[in-house]
Amino acid sequence: MNTRLILHINGNEHSLPDAWHGRRLLDYLRHELSLMSVKEGCGEGDCGACTVLVDGEPMCSCLLLGGVLANRSIVTVEGLSDDHRQRFAQLCEQHGGLQCGFCTSGFTMMSAWLAEGGSETGQNSSDKLLAGNICRCGVYQQLKKVIADLL
Ligand code: FES
Ligand code: FES
Repeated sequence: MNTRLILHINGNEHSLPDAWHGRRLLDYLRHELSLMSVKEGCGEGDCGACTVLVDGEPMCSCLLLGGVLANRSIVTVEGLSDDHRQRFAQLCEQHGGLQCGFCTSGFTMMSAWLAEGGSETGQNSSDKLLAGNICRCGVYQQLKKVIADLL
């Protein structure tokens, strides 16, 4: 049965009047709200391409059901500060951390979490970021430099 679902995304309240609460957050973000920064890679929680922040913590939106997220704060790349997005992009360009770009949103969200103190700083931060996010183009070492400069 479908009912109203209210999601708080990037500081805005979105009311979905006829929502199936068992639908994935990833699908709401991309197909209902056109937040296309959120990518679907594996769809199974392994690649990190769909990472968003939920109440400040990085989570895979492909594993979350919309119905359990009412009153939670959800942030996508579109909701990050311009400063952070620009700095991340500049550093990616500088260090060669951008190839096809499919993984970039997930890494951007992880970098925002780390920049907000979500993990230890330094080498551990880079390793933690890289542990849950897959880059099929393999620019891990370049992304490590991006994160090191960012923090
Ligand atoms: S699409 Fe969600 S972790 Fe890969
Ligand atoms: S840059 Fe292509 S998957 Fe990471």
